[in-house]
Amino acid sequence: MSAVRFEPSGPLRGELTPPPDKSISHRAAIVAAMGEGECRVESYLDSHDTRSTLVAVGGLGADIEEAVAGPGRLDLKIRGVGLRGARFDGASGIDVGNAGTLLRVLPGWLAGQGRGAWTLDGDESIRRRPVDRVAQPLREMGARLECRDERLPPLRVEGAALSGISYELPIASAQVKSCVLLAGLLADGETRVTEPAPTRDHTERMLRAAGASLEVESVSSLVTARSPQRRRITVRGTRSIELGSIAIPGDLSSAAFLIAAALLVHGSDLRIDEVGLNPTRSGFLGIANRMGGLLEVDDESAAGNEPRGTVRARHGGLTATRVGPAEVPLAIDELPLVALLGCFADGDTVVTGAQELRHKESDRIAAVVDGLRGIGAEIEALPDGFAVTGTGGLRGGALDTRGDHRMAMLGAVAGLASREGVEVRGFDSVSVSYPRFESELAQLASG
Ligand code: S3P
Repeated sequence: MSAVRFEPSGPLRGELTPPPDKSISHRAAIVAAMGEGECRVESYLDSHDTRSTLVAVGGLGADIEEAVAGPGRLDLKIRGVGLRGARFDGASGIDVGNAGTLLRVLPGWLAGQGRGAWTLDGDESIRRRPVDRVAQPLREMGARLECRDERLPPLRVEGAALSGISYELPIASAQVKSCVLLAGLLADGETRVTEPAPTRDHTERMLRAAGASLEVESVSSLVTARSPQRRRITVRGTRSIELGSIAIPGDLSSAAFLIAAALLVHGSDLRIDEVGLNPTRSGFLGIANRMGGLLEVDDESAAGNEPRGTVRARHGGLTATRVGPAEVPLAIDELPLVALLGCFADGDTVVTGAQELRHKESDRIAAVVDGLRGIGAEIEALPDGFAVTGTGGLRGGALDTRGDHRMAMLGAVAGLASREGVEVRGFDSVSVSYPRFESELAQLASG
């Protein structure tokens, strides 16, 4: 297992463009493969996870030409096979590696093929990630799926003729929503998905750009003023889609680790450029701002249909905050950072309504609580979150990533802000989303 030490750091200074967005990259490859003609993808993330998606759609018949567009980013030309043209050649295994998004989203396309069968499987962590959440709605649409213990990968998907359904998502999950929407493109009639709280809407934006008929409405229910707004997305079955081109912004989930480092390390002043600022992804900025974090956000929103802009983050004092269920989906991958900021903040920081964290690349409630406690934090696990008492800093020590890329980056940032440094065990998992994280952090520390 790789171990990397992150020593207490001097100020982080300078400018950086974060790696391209991982969620949008996965979707771009899949939607381009489903499309007619050639799609140009500008700034596709070159990481372990998003490589798995390229290999998968290549195996399904998409023709992919790639060129290096810069460190960690690719420009792609993807010639799609059309909505109903996924290749099936009998050797039907699809290795999703560590990519939960690929595991949950791709079956929506495969289920509607009307022929063929594919089995999706991946690494040890993927084998613990529930897939019944996609099998259930796809079965309602008429597909045939089988999974281990009715819940876990490997997941076998048999192509069938699908019918549109109205589906109430039992959990707020962008992956499940996206899966059902892709299947809806291949289904007879209309497919409606209602989400209990808004989740990232990259799929909706991309399908619209590809010419799909898709409507989004707010639906009222018997709610209190504090309940999240529910959204209903309706997609109509169609013969074809065509994406044409897409430019992928920087990943705010990756940038959040740099932003948190700047907020915590004395004297830091960082500017993050070209970062995605989609409001369904930017919950962490609101939370950090509420904690007193010195943030300036300049939303340029110019190119493409995904807002992007610049974030400046500077070191300063923090106060504790509370994060509840409505805010959770908007910051789901950044909640470990809320725990870390809480260690340095004045008061008790509490996150609830985040039981989904137990089903990420690791059980992220356990990983965060054990990991931060091991380096000096006062933190307790809750069934659906955690509670941290700020003590003004962290001692340091060793933190185990449990093979989870976001835990690797969390440990690194904790090390820079700690008194004694942190040894991050299993740091190589960082290549899932941000292969250049260590070198870029070092560059900012010397800036
Ligand atoms: C993702 C959605 C979220 C998120 C994951 C990526 C996506 O998962 O945690 O890292 O790309 O749709 P859920 O949909 O399971 O909440």
